Amino acid sequence: MRVLVIGGGGREHAIVHACVRAGHEVLCTPGNPGIGGMARVIGSAQDAASLAQLARTEAADVVIVGPEAYLAAGVVDECEALGIPAFGPSRAASRLEGDKAWSKAFMHRHGIPTAAHHTFSDLGAAGAHVAALTPPIVVKDAGLKAGKGVTIAHTAEEAHAALRDIFTQPGAQAVIEDFMTGQEVTVLALTDGSAYALTPPSQDHKTIHDGDTGPMTGGMGVICPFSISAETLEVVRRDIIEPTLAGMRADGHPFRGVLYAGLMLTPQGPKVVEFNARFGDPEAEAVLPLLESDLARHALDAARGQLQPEDVRFRDAASATIILAAPGYPGEPQKGIPLTLPEPGPDEVIYHAGTTGSAAELISSGGRVLAVTAVADTLNGALGRAYALADRVDFPGAQLRRDIGARIGAAPDPTPV
Ligand code: GLY
Repeated sequence: MRVLVIGGGGREHAIVHACVRAGHEVLCTPGNPGIGGMARVIGSAQDAASLAQLARTEAADVVIVGPEAYLAAGVVDECEALGIPAFGPSRAASRLEGDKAWSKAFMHRHGIPTAAHHTFSDLGAAGAHVAALTPPIVVKDAGLKAGKGVTIAHTAEEAHAALRDIFTQPGAQAVIEDFMTGQEVTVLALTDGSAYALTPPSQDHKTIHDGDTGPMTGGMGVICPFSISAETLEVVRRDIIEPTLAGMRADGHPFRGVLYAGLMLTPQGPKVVEFNARFGDPEAEAVLPLLESDLARHALDAARGQLQPEDVRFRDAASATIILAAPGYPGEPQKGIPLTLPEPGPDEVIYHAGTTGSAAELISSGGRVLAVTAVADTLNGALGRAYALADRVDFPGAQLRRDIGARIGAAPDPTPV
């Protein structure tokens, strides 16, 4: 098959890698130097209609869309209008991620467990609400913020500052919700809108510093699988994934693509922290190396409404991804830093997340720069190899967390059974 992957970060590098492993011809736009080492990179990213035209010109058999911004721009709708199968939700269905106020209302309407919340369209009312709460307080920008629109405010002043920041944008909305404690887990469902297959659960680490401190980032490292019991997984299917897919169908926006359920394991059972409308980043960099079956085939089947869940197979192994981020991230990342990468061994890969230049003269171009992944028989083995490989990367000033995977076993799953 000829596969067109849209995007140019670590997640798209992992998607391209999975399709190349399955023997497909892969094109990617805008791609990055790492992707260029394994697939044909085409031009710069464009608007949704031009991307669909590109898929037609290149005779793509299927399009796989990585980043949420392209989904929200309607690239899947544009491809479908040209008769090109595209793996991802329509613009309307991608609201599950793109509009957190709508998404919370959807969960409320369909009885999907999540934190209690209120949505505000003006600073005054939001500020008055905060004044009545006891921190910690979760403040979310309702719009797309590349994973950085969430503040866990430990003081009322931090919550007010986050709100002031949100309401500098015209038309902004803020969602203020109850703080939940427990282990966070990501469950990804590949779906054609009805049938679905779950990937092994994974766990991201969202703040910049060790010990879950410092500002939120897009994600600093992942372990996969993150072990949860079969009973909890059954609750996730029954109470979260299935009602969400059914709700989206009932509301007239069937959700095809990757449903990302960011969950908190609470004493009342798993609750949704957030839905995303695509593979997680960096979850994809840890989850997809474990995929044994053919991602492009699943994408085409799902786009046609014919996913075969029993065909989706993962290795019985573990993986770990360590993010190397630029100095200054998640604020103002320093760019243009020269990078020298070691040669990865078997079952190791360095995904490019924010790089430019060439293999010979590689420089950093973003906040999260590299996603270093290793697969091994055990999680500890994968973590050891991923850290050893990350330590061989020459990236002056790089930030990385040293405690990825340290929460394993830290808090038992409290889901009532
Ligand atoms: N890892 C969080 C996200 O993809 O949004």
